Amino acid sequence: MSDIKLRAATHADIPTLLRWDADPVVIASGSDDPDAVIAWGEDNDWAENIDLYQRDVWEYWIAELDGRSIGAMQMCDPHLEPTHYWGEIEPNLRALDIWIGEADARGKGHGETMMSLAFARCFSDPLVTAIIIDPLASNTRAHKFYQRLGFVPTHRQVFHEEDDCLVHRLTRQDWEAKHGPA
Ligand SMILES: CC(C)(COP(=O)(O)OP(=O)(O)OC[C@H]1O[C@@H](n2cnc3c(N)ncnc32)[C@H](O)[C@@H]1OP(=O)(O)O)[C@@H](O)C(=O)NCCC(=O)NCCS
Repeated sequence: MSDIKLRAATHADIPTLLRWDADPVVIASGSDDPDAVIAWGEDNDWAENIDLYQRDVWEYWIAELDGRSIGAMQMCDPHLEPTHYWGEIEPNLRALDIWIGEADARGKGHGETMMSLAFARCFSDPLVTAIIIDPLASNTRAHKFYQRLGFVPTHRQVFHEEDDCLVHRLTRQDWEAKHGPA
């Protein structure tokens, strides 16, 4: 495992987050629109996102490798989070998003380490039954990555009337079978 630390994102990270938003691989991971020029859409407001922080309900994290910021994650409780992105959904889940913004830090196992740290954090709440993720149906490399970590595809779901995603789920049972109790 690489020496990655996850810490809460702050306003000081906004210039870095904006730089990552302009990375073509990050853009392609969030939208099938070939003309998209920025990840998360023009209306995305990082200050607002960071300010919505509520522990275990809505959190953004920055991943640092030896003190260098390389990527970001979002963790939310999809039943409780304020934007209701997931629509009607059961309680006691966590949803994750991950993107490594620094191109030279991809494909080196850091994503796997970031996800492992996030799983331990999510499942440390004994009420949490599973973690869900929503890669675009077209992001087949990400599917491979998630399935290697134990996620299982559950269904197709269209978000914001345009993002065709293949939702995946990692149950506590499957995670504990590999890693022991949280
Ligand atoms: C997906 C991602 C988090 C994986 O982290 P990582 O540290 O690169 O992954 P690892 O080194 O642990 O594993 C490599 C595997 O990740 C997957 N992967 C997906 N996108 C990748 C990318 N742009 N570069 C390298 N690997 C990628 C592949 O399965 C790859 O295996 P492969 O080389 O055999 O295809 C990272 O590559 C990334 O941030 N990609 C761009 C944004 C993205 O796709 N986020 C997911 C949105 S649902």
